[in-house]
Amino acid sequence: MRFATKAIRVGQEPDSNTGAIITPIYQTVNFVFDEISRPHLFEYSRSGNPTRTALEHCLAGLEEARHGLAFSSGMAAVDAALSLLSAGDHVVASQNIYGGTFRAMEQVWKPRGVSITYVDPTDTGAFGRAIGDKTRMVWIETPANPLLQLVDVRAVAALTRPRGITLVDDNTFPSPYFQRPLTQGVDVVVHSTSKYISGHSDVIGGAVAVNDEKLYERIKFHQNAIGAIPGPMDCWLSLRGLKTLAVRMRQHEANAKAVAVFLSQHPKVVETIYPGLESHPQHELAKAQMDGFGGIVTFRVEGGNAQVAKLVKALKLFYFAESLGGVESLVCHPATMTHAVMTREEQEAVGITEGIVRLSVGIEDVEDLIEDLEQGLGKC
Ligand SMILES: Cc1ncc(COP(=O)(O)O)c(C=O)c1O
Repeated sequence: MRFATKAIRVGQEPDSNTGAIITPIYQTVNFVFDEISRPHLFEYSRSGNPTRTALEHCLAGLEEARHGLAFSSGMAAVDAALSLLSAGDHVVASQNIYGGTFRAMEQVWKPRGVSITYVDPTDTGAFGRAIGDKTRMVWIETPANPLLQLVDVRAVAALTRPRGITLVDDNTFPSPYFQRPLTQGVDVVVHSTSKYISGHSDVIGGAVAVNDEKLYERIKFHQNAIGAIPGPMDCWLSLRGLKTLAVRMRQHEANAKAVAVFLSQHPKVVETIYPGLESHPQHELAKAQMDGFGGIVTFRVEGGNAQVAKLVKALKLFYFAESLGGVESLVCHPATMTHAVMTREEQEAVGITEGIVRLSVGIEDVEDLIEDLEQGLGKC
């Protein structure tokens, strides 16, 4: 089966009891046992629920993984992957990972005795230099938020694999439609399904995909032990979103490309960052390791944050909001929103400087989106 077929079919066979074609929402806490110590297929919905199983199977199919696990949020999925660590372990992480992941590393995992070295994601050699005897995990996000730098996934995997280091990749931005990291040497894929996977900005969720049985057992244990699971209704919404992932991603990308070209020619835009533009320093790498360039476009407005304030106020179709990956277009100011947990110095160090704006380009008519940007930039 190919991608779009899998998104509609995997894990979603007609219901064996009723013939329902759409996976039912099994809104139940518990299930009847057959006899002592023998549950039927499910026993208790924290441990497993048929609607969640359908979602987990579908996610695994799309990531070309043996196993998928669904969580109540992207951060719960991030936490489940980090739960593979113990006190004394060392992590090497890309320096511009999602702000919430950075916060979890700095404020939850460091106090528990985990040490972390942040490196420039575009410099594969820096990963190699940072890896030491105690390194147990390398954490990447590619393309990274908000500056869309890429990590050379196969090159980093060539460093981690021989040393038995777990390579984790947050694949939220490209979604499995544009990138399947497990096929490139990654061990654990993490998602915020609140973004493209669900796709309609109406459900918070997360996912993990793995091939290795031991990693699966450990993360599944954490899922059940801690209990950060999504409810059946949320799983159903995510499944419904997944069915259109392929067509949505194609349209997100087509619109993002057109928006990026428009911005790159605008006199008030100092810099446009989009991996699909030939001007992107890692355009060739993007072509080699991704099947497309995604729906996020970042740019720098002339005149810094004072002009950003005017722009976001003037835009009418691009809602000024956090998050990304929904059908509707959003504009975000990373320095004061998604990356507010970083100090000004930390932001500057990773390139989140004055005037940076991030667009999540939706699937509206692109002519409307460009007209909106044109009138908004006109107010700057
Ligand atoms: C790349 C990335 N990873 C993880 C998360 C966390 O996901 P959630 O908000 O679903 O907990 C986000 C949220 O914005 C994100 O952008």
